[in-house]
Amino acid sequence: MDPKVLEAARAAFPASGPALVLGAVVHEGECDPEPIVRLPLAMANRHGLIAGATGTGKTKTLQVLAEQFSAAGVPVFLADLKGDLSGIAVAGKADDRVTQRAKDTGFAWKSAGCPTEFLSLTGSGGAQLRATVSSFGPLLLARVMGLNDTQSSVLSLVFKYSDDKHLPLLDLADLRAVLQYLSGDGADELKDYGGMSKATVGVLLREMVELSQQGADAFFGEPEFDLNDLLRVDAGRGIVSVLELSDVQEKPALFSTFMMWMLARLYHDLPEVGDVDKPKLVFFFDEAHLLFDDASKAFLDQIEQVVRLIRSKGVGVYFVTQNPKDVPSTVLGQLGHRVQHALRAFTPDDDKALQAAARTYPKTPFYEVEKTLTSLGIGEAFVTVLTPQGTPTMPFATRMVPPGSRMGPLAADEMRQHLMVSDQVQHYAAAVDRESAREMLSARVAVSAQASRDAATPAAPPPAGGVAAPHAGGTEAAIAGAAAVVGAALSSPIARAMATSVARSVGTQLARGLMGALLGGATRRRR
Ligand SMILES: Nc1ncnc2c1ncn2[C@@H]1O[C@H](COP(=O)(O)OP(=O)(O)OP(=O)(O)O)[C@@H](O)[C@H]1O
Ligand SMILES: [Mg+2]
Repeated sequence: MDPKVLEAARAAFPASGPALVLGAVVHEGECDPEPIVRLPLAMANRHGLIAGATGTGKTKTLQVLAEQFSAAGVPVFLADLKGDLSGIAVAGKADDRVTQRAKDTGFAWKSAGCPTEFLSLTGSGGAQLRATVSSFGPLLLARVMGLNDTQSSVLSLVFKYSDDKHLPLLDLADLRAVLQYLSGDGADELKDYGGMSKATVGVLLREMVELSQQGADAFFGEPEFDLNDLLRVDAGRGIVSVLELSDVQEKPALFSTFMMWMLARLYHDLPEVGDVDKPKLVFFFDEAHLLFDDASKAFLDQIEQVVRLIRSKGVGVYFVTQNPKDVPSTVLGQLGHRVQHALRAFTPDDDKALQAAARTYPKTPFYEVEKTLTSLGIGEAFVTVLTPQGTPTMPFATRMVPPGSRMGPLAADEMRQHLMVSDQVQHYAAAVDRESAREMLSARVAVSAQASRDAATPAAPPPAGGVAAPHAGGTEAAIAGAAAVVGAALSSPIARAMATSVARSVGTQLARGLMGALLGGATRRRR
C-alpha cells in the first residue's frame, strides 16, 4: 500500500488516548493489517451516522461500536428491529470469517458478550417499557395516533385542560375518560378552550380506539420506565439495553416515537456536563428513516433540537440508516462521525443521492469518493470521525473489525433464560393503576349526579371546573403525599413505582413545557 496513505491515516487518527477501534485502512483493494481507524471516546457524544445499502454491514458496525462502548464503561441503548442484535449478550465464536477479518485488520480479537438487559414494548421480549400518557405529551402522542395538525392541537388542549383541572393522565383509560367527559357530561367546560368542540374531541376518542387495538394499553401507564436504568454500569462495563422491536416491526410510528420520548426525557432529566472523557450514554437508532418518515414539521424540529442539545448532557446519538438522505439535513449536519458503508446507484435518483453524499466528505487526495462509496466491500466503510480537536479527519476506506459478541440472535431458550434472571424484567412486569383522571372523573360525575338529585333539578349544569379542581387537586396531593411516605418506608416495587411517578409529576410537567418550548409554541411552563 502507498505509504503516504498510511502516513496520512496515522496522522489523522490519534494512536493514543481512549478510543473505539473501528478498523484498518483499505486502499486500492488492499487492507493494511493495522487497526488505525479509531474514534476518540471523548468525542463520542458528538453523534454519528452509520449508513449503507442493505446487507453492507451497518448492524455489525453498530454491534462493534456498542460492545466497545460497553467495555469502556459507557452504557448503550440500542433498538433491535430485526431481532439480530440479541447476540450481543453472549460471546462470539472464532469461526474462519472472524479469524480472517481479525487478521486482515490486525485486530487483537477477543470473544466476549456484554452485560445486557432487554426491553420490549409488548413485554414479551424483555422488561415492559412503559410511559405515562402525561410524560409522553401531546406532540408524541399525536404522532403515534397519526393525527393531523388540527387534531393535534385539540389533543394539546385536552392535555392543557387536564393540567388545569389536576387530572393526572397516566394511562390511556385516563385520556379516554377525559375525552368521554368532555364530549358528554363535561361538554360545557369546552367553552373555555377555544378550538375544541364536541365533534373534534369525538374524533380523538375514535382514534384512541384504534390505538388500543394496536395493543398500546400495555405501554402507557405505570410503573413508568426509569431512564436511570439505561445509565447503569456493572463492574466497569456499561449495560447494553436492547429494545427488542421485532414484534412491533409493522408499527414504526409507534416505536420510533417511543425512542424519541426516551431521548427527550433523557435530555430533560440529565444534568449539563459539557465536555466529557466519555459519554454518559450512547443511543443507537437503527433503521432511523422510520423516525423521520411522514414526520410533521413540529416533530422534526423537536428531533433536531433534542439531538443538538443532548450532546451537552453527555449523550451521543447514532443514526443507522440505508441512505444518508433519509436523515434531514439539519440533523445530518450535527452528526460528527460517519461510517458510510457501500451505497448502490442503480437509478438517476440514486446517482443524485450518491453525489450529494460524496460532497459532504472532507477532501482527500487518496480516494475518488463516489467510486469508493459504490465499491466498498461488505463490512467495509468510508470513515471520517471528529478528532479530539473537534475537526473532521480525512475520510479513509476502512475494513471494520469483527464484533467479539455473537453475530446473530439468541436462541429462544437462551433468551428465556436471560429474561428469567433479570431483576429489571421483574420490576416492570406488573402494571400499577393508581387513582388518576379516570377515577377522579367518575367520582366527579357521581357527585354531580348526586347533587342534581339533591336539588331535584334534572337538568342541573355540571359543577364548574373551578369548584371541582381544588377538590381533585387536593386528592392528588394527598395521594402524592401518602405515596411518598409509603415509598420511602417500603421498598416494594409498587411503592417504589408510585413514589417515582409522584416525584416525577413535577418533572413531567416541565418536560411537557420543554417540548412546547422546543416547538416555540404557546406554553405556560418554561424552563
Ligand atoms: N464488522 C464485521 N465483522 C464480521 N462480519 C461482518 C462485519 N460487517 C458485516 N459482516 C458480514 O456481513 C453481513 C451483513 O451485515 P449486517 O447484517 O450488519 O448488514 P446490514 O447493513 O445491517 O444489513 P440490513 O440492511 O439488511 O440490515 C453479516 O451477517 C456478516 O456476515
Ligand atoms: Mg441491519
